[in-house]
This record gives sequence, structure tokens and C-alpha cells, in this order.
Amino acid sequence: MLAETTAFTLDGISARPVRVEVDVQRGLPVFQIVGLPDAAVREARERVRAALINCGFDFPLRRITANLAPADLRKVGPGLDLALAAALLGAAGEISIERLAGWAFAGELALDGTLRPVRGALAMAEAARAMGSAGIVVPPANGGEAALAHGVDVRTIPSVAGLRGLANGDYPGDRPEPLDLSRAPALPDLSDLRGQEHLRRALEVAAAGEHGTLVIGPPGAGKSLAARRLPSILPPLAGGEILEVARIASACGIGAGAVSSVRPFRAPHHTVSPAGLVGGGSPPRPGEITLAHRGVLFLDELCEFRRSALEALREPMETGEVSIVRASGRQTLPCRFTLVAAANPCPCGRGEDDSSCQCNEASIRRYRAALSGALADRIDINLGVRQPGAEAMAGPPGESSASVRKRVITARQVMSDRFGGSRTNSTATTSELAVFEVEPAARKLLAEAHQSQGMSGRAHDRVLRLARTVADLADSNPIEEAHIAAALQFRRREAK
Ligand SMILES: Nc1ncnc2c1ncn2[C@@H]1O[C@H](COP(=O)(O)OP(=O)(O)OP(=O)(O)O)[C@@H](O)[C@H]1O
Ligand SMILES: [Mg+2]
Repeated sequence: MLAETTAFTLDGISARPVRVEVDVQRGLPVFQIVGLPDAAVREARERVRAALINCGFDFPLRRITANLAPADLRKVGPGLDLALAAALLGAAGEISIERLAGWAFAGELALDGTLRPVRGALAMAEAARAMGSAGIVVPPANGGEAALAHGVDVRTIPSVAGLRGLANGDYPGDRPEPLDLSRAPALPDLSDLRGQEHLRRALEVAAAGEHGTLVIGPPGAGKSLAARRLPSILPPLAGGEILEVARIASACGIGAGAVSSVRPFRAPHHTVSPAGLVGGGSPPRPGEITLAHRGVLFLDELCEFRRSALEALREPMETGEVSIVRASGRQTLPCRFTLVAAANPCPCGRGEDDSSCQCNEASIRRYRAALSGALADRIDINLGVRQPGAEAMAGPPGESSASVRKRVITARQVMSDRFGGSRTNSTATTSELAVFEVEPAARKLLAEAHQSQGMSGRAHDRVLRLARTVADLADSNPIEEAHIAAALQFRRREAK
């Protein structure tokens, strides 16, 4: 006998539908799976057999063939177990498959038949909705996540034994409540940062305009401490953005339960490979930049990163998405994030200003190669910091994140009125820059700096974008002289 069900296989962060056809015929007892299964899918045979027997089903001692269509799509992961079990039970006559027609299934089986969570349940539920399925059955641990996809009937069953009740109508499965993603967990606060007024201001500007930021300074000056507090001054994720972030977290195995209205913050270690950073591998997996989508990518100790990894960032940062091409096809993953990087001025970390620094020029040049490479183009704020003074460290705590965030949110509103959507000043094109209102004194100051510092055209535009954000934070329509002066301060190192 023949029976079919629907399942999904994960491709990047999207779920692709898979028809699972199972045929049970008389013959020597074998169980084979065809249709480009990966090792985990092939091993489903053992899990399904044990799970069904342990849940009291009769496992057919016959010739079982499972076909996964379309045949040219690679099926990955253990998420097809439940669909295979359902189709097999239908084909063996153990359950009546009619009632389950039009349903999709996702779930990995434990040997005792319990359902284990799968990656990408949210994308799968959305795919089930898109293909007009009657609904989708998922493991209990994925229920809340799958229920985020509105407009599709999501049910959970604790074990494969639940298929019997679903098939004969005795037990409808449980209807899970969608996860609450709007919560706002407490974050480390910017008031922890003492002194470093410039750095604080730079973070605020970076947060408002999504400007890429590089902070250079000696060890223990508070660079990492400050960068880790950036999410606390960013506006909360909007409704649609939360779902985007949840979809990524769900597909990458972090789980949508970890998602909240706080923007993602990713700080990959400097030993990260290019594929780990931008995505890749076989099958292609999203990288850190996709996990940082709509949030912050923090590259601490920038100069220690592999050159190839930093080079790979160039194009994705330009376009806000990353294309991974493999034999199995092309995948485009979103990756729009604010870049923050930190580095020491030289290999020993103390910098030329410190007389105890023994670094020679060649080693400094090698060390700084990363700073002048691919990323230099995308970094608007280039800030040097010094050690905080004794007075600052003993002084009162700085302004709190909550009050800085208010200004950031107001400035973002101005930007969204200006450009439409969620665009920010860092994305302003040359033609948009040309129509910014700039006061004559401000124009003069910029022209002078351009002359005296030998700025490039790009650097000139960058100062204008930064000045626009400074002006927006000050709630000023025209860009004034003081705004240009502030913006020029954010690129001191580069000028040097
Ligand atoms: N400006 C500061 N305000 C408050 N605490 C500070 C400050 N600077 C340093 N500290 C203290 O020193 C610790 C180390 O700071 P942090 O890790 O941010 O240094 P860093 O600049 O990133 O150094 P490295 O270059 O070695 O990475 C912090 O956890 C904090 O306790
Ligand atoms: Mg650090």
C-alpha cells in the first residue's frame, strides 16, 4: 500500500516542502529511503522503527520504500522523522491516513517515540501556511515558535503514539500559545561606563544612524564594556523585525524562545572562519552576520581576525544580504547590522604615546593591516580613546541607557520620516546627501577640513552623513557648524 505526507527540509533559513511517499510491499523485510537524503535522514530508519515498536505499533516486516520528492533537493536533518512515521503507518494500514491528508509534519523521534524539537519550526509553519496545508503537527518544544506563524493550524503531540488519536479523530493534539517575543529583558547599562565622553557620544551617534564604528585604544580603557552596552540604547525591534529575527534564531538552532524585543548582539571570537562569519558550508548554514541581522555585530580585537574573514564582510555590508552559491543552489540570507569593532593601537596594546611600547614599525603595520582593509570603507566613526582618568573612575555613574535611548528613538523617527521605512542616515546616497540642508558656516568648515586633511570624496560624504545624525540627535533641521565639528572629531584617527 502507498501513503503520502508532507514535511519540510531547511534550506538556509527557509523551509522547502518535501513529499514523503512510503510504499509497503510484500517481500524481504527492508526499509530504504531514496530521494537525496543526507546521513541524518537515512538514519531515520532506525529511529522510526524503534519509536513505532516502542509505542505499540506493529512494524511491518515487509519491503518498505520511502521516497522524498522533489528528488533533486537535498533533504537534511532529522526533522522528517515524524512525517516518515505517519506515512509508514498509513501505508502499513496501522492508521487511516485520510484524516491526516493535507497536514504537514515536523519532528525528530527519540527511540521511545517522544518528539524532539527541530530547527526552523517557524519557517516550516509559515511554509505550511503558504502551501495551503490544513495545518502542521510539531513537537511540543516547537509549539510556541510555530504558533508565531499566524493563519495556520498548529498542533503538538508529545509522542508518535499521538498519531493514532489524530488519525481516528479521538485526540486533536494540543494547540500551543504563540511565544511572547515583545518582552524586554534587563540589559547591562551604559551608566557603567565612567568617563570616555567621546566614546559615549560616538555610541549614541552610531546607534541613531547605524554608523559602523571602530574604537582604538589601550587595554582596559572600557572599549569592550562600552560596545556590549550598545543594544541597551538601540530602539526595540518592531513587530515585523522581531519575526524576522525569530525566523533566523529558529533556523539556526538558537530557538525563537531566546528572541525578545532587544536587538541581537553577536560577538564572534577572532578565530572565526569566513564561513562561520558570513555563512556557508555544506549544506549552507547562516553565519554570524545573519544572526546579527537587525542588531549589532561586534568584532572585538579586530586586528586579530583573519584577513579572509574580514574581506568576506565587504559585499554583505554593502548590500545588507549575503548570497551563498553552492552546487545545491543559491541562497540569499539577510544581514543588516551595525558594525562595532575594537582594537588596540599596536600589538603590545600600549600605543606609540606610551614610552614603554616596544613595537617596531613593521609589526605595527602588519597589525593594522586589518584596519585599512575591507572594513575601512564601511566604518564611519573612527575613534581613539585613552585610559579613563582616576577622577572619572571615582566619579558618579554616567547617563543611563534609558535616557540615551529616548534620544536615539526620536532621531530614528526623523530618519524614517526622511527616507521612509527603517532606513537610517548611514544609508544616505550621494544624491540624498546633496539635498541635506547645510548652513553656510558648516559648509565652510567642511571645505576647510577637506582641504587641510586631504580628505577623499568618500570621507567627505561620511562626515556629512555623521553630521546629519548629530543634527538629528540635536533635533536640528539644518546641519550647523557644530554638527560638522562633532562629525570631524569622529574621524580623527583616520586623518592621522
Ligand atoms: N571607562 C571605564 N568605566 C568603567 N569601568 C571600566 C572602564 N574602563 C575599564 N573599566 C573596567 O575594566 C574592565 C575591562 O574593560 P574592557 O574589557 O572594556 O577593556 P578593553 O578596552 O576592551 O581592553 P582590551 O583592549 O584589553 O580588550 C571592565 O570590565 C571594567 O570593570
Ligand atoms: Mg576588550
